[in-house]
Amino acid sequence: MSNIDFNHKVVEMKNITKKFGDFTANDNINLTVHKGEVHALLGENGAGKTTLMNVLYGLYQPTSGEIYIREEKTSIEDPNVAIKKGIGMVHQHFMLVQPFTVAENIILGMETTRGISLDMKKAVEDVKKLSDKYGLYVDPNAKIQDISVGMQQRVEILKALYRGAEILILDEPTAVLTPQEIEDLIEIIRSLTEQGKTIIIITHKLKEIKMTSNYCTIIRRGKRIDTVKVSETSEDDLASKMVGREVNFKVVKKEREKGNTSIKIDNLVVKDNRGINAVDGLSLEINSGEILGLAGIDGNGQSELIEALNGLRYVDSGKIFMNGKDITNKSPKEVLDNNVAVIPEDRQKRGLVLDFSMAENMILENYHKEPFSKRGILSYNNIENFAKDLIKRFDVRPENEKIKAKALSGGNQQKVIIAREVTNDPDLLIASQPTRGLDVGAIEYVHNALVEQRDKGKAVFLVSLELDEIMNVSDRIAVIYEGKIVGIIDAKDADEKTLGLMMAGGGKDGE
Ligand SMILES: Nc1ncnc2c1ncn2[C@@H]1O[C@H](COP(=O)(O)OP(=O)(O)OP(=O)(O)O)[C@@H](O)[C@H]1O
Ligand SMILES: [Mg+2]
Repeated sequence: MSNIDFNHKVVEMKNITKKFGDFTANDNINLTVHKGEVHALLGENGAGKTTLMNVLYGLYQPTSGEIYIREEKTSIEDPNVAIKKGIGMVHQHFMLVQPFTVAENIILGMETTRGISLDMKKAVEDVKKLSDKYGLYVDPNAKIQDISVGMQQRVEILKALYRGAEILILDEPTAVLTPQEIEDLIEIIRSLTEQGKTIIIITHKLKEIKMTSNYCTIIRRGKRIDTVKVSETSEDDLASKMVGREVNFKVVKKEREKGNTSIKIDNLVVKDNRGINAVDGLSLEINSGEILGLAGIDGNGQSELIEALNGLRYVDSGKIFMNGKDITNKSPKEVLDNNVAVIPEDRQKRGLVLDFSMAENMILENYHKEPFSKRGILSYNNIENFAKDLIKRFDVRPENEKIKAKALSGGNQQKVIIAREVTNDPDLLIASQPTRGLDVGAIEYVHNALVEQRDKGKAVFLVSLELDEIMNVSDRIAVIYEGKIVGIIDAKDADEKTLGLMMAGGGKDGE
């Protein structure tokens, strides 16, 4: 089933080159997209996908090359021109105004001279009409701060459609979504193309490319490697085209050795922002030398649990012991001093200081310690060497420790955090959605890094919404449901169906 109209090329990017200083982010890239087509862009972290789309959306000017929209040569000076030409973009990080309503956000910047109050009524109607047409259901009167990430994304899509977008660019739209929200989005994409819209989607998930896209253009280190017809290409082919080598999807690990209790969580109760018990009498032990995976549907207390373990959220009752020491309601710094490191879920907010350099971000928690500072004076040499080493080991690109964190691609920002937390060499490493937004090669790397920690006799707590990842990496799997552990099984005995049932609350009691 295809909605493509091959007689209409809606986007043609010809020989696009984009340089930042002497770094070439896009190197002579060609891209052709037809009306009604879903075209995927695939490439490693830092390959240049977002940059190419920012050029199409007028956020960047190409260093050289030409853009044709509906076969007409177009110079896209800024996003306003892009919007006029029918191009809309939903970014990796949303740009909505939190205290405003859905409808207000959609018409923001578009109010006409008729005055905002009149337009609001019409806007609400228009939003409803658009919602119905494409199956993008949202409550126009809800405030952004009160709706889920999946809903916020719908608002971004509606905002683009409201401005007359015919070509929609989606930059990693599923990275922030739950599995159910991803299914909904795939439906929405179908309904959009059935009605003649054209979609360019950036994603690292090969399964999603297979499910949504007609064509896929693969970019490696700024260059276009190939454009393939998705139905004729396997996931393995896509992966190896993208990284230039075979990718091993299966995590190889040796038998674990039984270790002592690393962290013991006893009957923990933690409230969410609304004051409701999100963690509701949860008990769990993680041993050194094992990876314990936490499976569960989003919103069953995972985030609150991690925040409590990290010292960021108040524990109402119950206890947390790390290596036998009570760390309940200790500060994040004290938690860290007790050898617990956390790869946080929200990396832009918690993980990085965007205006600091990569090197500074890599020593964020340790700058006051030797060898990074001596008698209160920072040793830039040692910091630089340390950063250079991490950049090599974790394959962060570009290999320049002086670059500011905000100039790194999304995936490379994550690698910086992961590198920093793993090299802290904690007794317990808590990894929350550690591979979100990473390319398949980087995922392989992170999984191996977690296994390496475990083989060194450390405890690893892996929290992920992706069952494949949980099953593939963990030694034991605990299932969380309504703030409680409803069962723990050996990963060897786990399958999707059993876990799915337990995640829906149909589990047996703990071990
Ligand atoms: N404003 C900028 N200044 C300097 N370098 C930049 C800038 N924006 C991007 N880059 C560099 O260009 C390269 C491509 O970045 P881009 O964001 O396009 O990657 P990407 O393919 O979208 O990666 P990811 O999958 O990680 O999001 C990266 O090496 C990045 O560091
Ligand atoms: Mg990107």
